[in-house]
Amino acid sequence: MSSAGPGGTTPPKPPPILGGSLSPQTPSAPPPVDWPALRAAAKAAAGRAYAPYSGLRVGAAGLTSDGQVIVGCNVENASFGLTLCAECGLVSALRADNGGALEAVAVVAGDGEPLLPCGRCRQLLLEAGGGSLLVDTPAGPVELKFLLPAAFTTADLAERRDQR
Ligand code: THU
Repeated sequence: MSSAGPGGTTPPKPPPILGGSLSPQTPSAPPPVDWPALRAAAKAAAGRAYAPYSGLRVGAAGLTSDGQVIVGCNVENASFGLTLCAECGLVSALRADNGGALEAVAVVAGDGEPLLPCGRCRQLLLEAGGGSLLVDTPAGPVELKFLLPAAFTTADLAERRDQR
């Protein structure tokens, strides 16, 4: 039964925050995750990385809610601070390809073994897949909320910005 009866108030909509995605969620069940295939896609992307300064090639592959696999790789620059992490490329490609929300992500080094995303990229992934996004780790897949507890989100932004 709706809580908004005649003369009642309509409950406020929850803000589009934690679990927020880059495109609307579909009600269908998430696709099963083929982790070996996702890791292989990430390894192939790492092979195309441009990392002449650190020597650490990184590839990221994400499975979207509509079943697409999207990849990114790190791109370094002689001006070191301009380096783009693999996950940045992945999230940008997700937008550009009009992919759904991220369901699972594998990040690997050039050797194909899992690499934990840096702090900045955990934050970036949060907005692309939400706290339940599965992230591969050396110990197996874990939900992003456990890798980025007490995250800053759009809720903080909405509640704490100057009220106009
Ligand atoms: N790197 C990534 O691509 N993703 C991460 O999550 C961690 C670090 C890259 C950036 C840089 O090109 C190299 O690894 C060394 O830090």
